[in-house]
Amino acid sequence: MSNCELTLRLGERTIPIIFAEEGVEWAARHVHELVPASTRVMLVSDERVALFYERPMVDALSELGLDASSFILPVGEEEKRLPRVVSLLDELVVHKFARDDLVLALGGGVVSDMAGFAASIYRRGVPWIAVPTTLLGMVDASIGGKTGVDHPLAKNLIGAFHEPLAVLAPLNVLGTLDAREWLSGSAEVVKAALLAGGELWKMVLRLGVDLYHWQPPQVWDAMVAAARVKIEVVERDERETGPRRLLNLGHTFGHALEAATDYQVFTHGEAVFLGLRAAIRISAALGLMSEADAREAEAPLTSVSFPAAEFSAEALLAAAGHDKKTLAGSTHWVLLEAPGRVVIRSDVPPPLIEECAAWLSATVREGHAAAASPRRMRIAVINGPNLNLLGTREPGIYGRADYERLEEHVHRVAEDEGADLLMFQSNVEGELIATVQRLRHWADGIIINPGGYTHTSVAIRDALAAVGLPAVEVHLTDISRREAFRAESLIAPVCVAVVKGEGIAGYGTALKILLSHLKSKAPHVERR
Ligand SMILES: NC(=O)c1ccc[n+]([C@@H]2O[C@H](COP(=O)([O-])OP(=O)(O)OC[C@H]3O[C@@H](n4cnc5c(N)ncnc54)[C@H](O)[C@@H]3O)[C@@H](O)[C@H]2O)c1
Ligand SMILES: [Zn+2]
Repeated sequence: MSNCELTLRLGERTIPIIFAEEGVEWAARHVHELVPASTRVMLVSDERVALFYERPMVDALSELGLDASSFILPVGEEEKRLPRVVSLLDELVVHKFARDDLVLALGGGVVSDMAGFAASIYRRGVPWIAVPTTLLGMVDASIGGKTGVDHPLAKNLIGAFHEPLAVLAPLNVLGTLDAREWLSGSAEVVKAALLAGGELWKMVLRLGVDLYHWQPPQVWDAMVAAARVKIEVVERDERETGPRRLLNLGHTFGHALEAATDYQVFTHGEAVFLGLRAAIRISAALGLMSEADAREAEAPLTSVSFPAAEFSAEALLAAAGHDKKTLAGSTHWVLLEAPGRVVIRSDVPPPLIEECAAWLSATVREGHAAAASPRRMRIAVINGPNLNLLGTREPGIYGRADYERLEEHVHRVAEDEGADLLMFQSNVEGELIATVQRLRHWADGIIINPGGYTHTSVAIRDALAAVGLPAVEVHLTDISRREAFRAESLIAPVCVAVVKGEGIAGYGTALKILLSHLKSKAPHVERR
């Protein structure tokens, strides 16, 4: 698949939902085609997504002549709150955004829910476009116009229906997604397959564990098919008065698992996988499907890893909003007769629900670790002012190799060492500081050449100290043998090493020092 266009039809409105094996520059070109040339764009993203894609997106939009600014949200579900939306609205007001200007959501479901919600209430509704960057965003959250934020007492309680002009899914951005976030999104693909049955369910069975292990190209057809399932359900019931409730398959206990652990233990998808298994078990116990069919349907879900958690069956039922009195008849359970044959039942006997809660509580006590290869170290290389002029800038001092050569060299060493790399250059102190801060959401270590800021920037030093990631300072020249004002580095005291005077090769040296420093520490735990 290189490009696949689906359409969500809602009465007179049609919303294109396009998947392409492309990066964000492709999405920028589509945005340009969809809006008038005078449109101003407010790019909304989160700190982590921004590390990779804010600058390429803003640059691509600007090159196409669109006036783009950006608003970067903090990372995480706990930030999906009204005050953040208010700050975004403030930004739109300050920038005097008009009725026909555009909000562009670049990120996962948290970003699209918040950006779409701000777009729904600013001037009673301005256009927005979703550029989803997670698997979950592409197959689920960005489709259907449900936008909103969490309330401290309940998830997704405050919101509005506001369809985007389009959903543009640049599949290549999935390359930077964490394995655990990929796994989380794959739960919605499996849910869609159980709802739809047929070819999609066969695809899921054929893919087996490949679906969970971050193999994008093999999975793209299943992703598109899952998005199609969501589109079909939304077309039948945009406002969630009927069939859209089918999308809750696996989510009754899924949400309860998340709530019972204060949203701190499971990703949404991990909880949904367990919730789907619970729904299949309840279906079998009610005689809706045979034990053998239930085992077959549950089998692909049993290899999914999930963390251990300790809570009682009662706590789980309470988190689902149940106690002994309300258990009977209060919940519509989305259940299965077979993959593709869904039923909604409100007569599930309370003892059966209690039994299932007890099974979940016992199952998650141990957790389940599927065999996984350890992930690669993540190193960010940050270059400060004037390094963009490498090659032409005082070549007698800094050499003739240009910035591209520097990039190539560092990428080659990183590849040889088996590390993931992010490179960033800016002449602006604030941008360097913002990048250092954002790196706490991704990097294991930092290599930094602060250029002239080495000798002046207390703020860059403070940012490095604040994020607390091991850092190595690097300089092309030996700064201790040059002008007296270059002798002192404000940055060195917060670094584990300083490499100077080796030219471009010094970056490779710095990378090796940093990696050996990181390897000598305790094994890295996956950051959420
Ligand atoms: N509106 C709907 O219909 C709908 C449907 C389902 C879920 N949701 C909502 O979606 C949210 C969950 O969405 P999510 O799982 O996408 O979470 P998310 O937006 O928090 O993204 C997960 C993590 O991945 C990072 N990330 C995103 N794209 C990345 C990329 N390409 N490379 C590297 N890192 C990247 C993010 O910074 C974040 O840390 C929940 O708030 C849920 O309520 C909404
Ligand atoms: Zn879900």
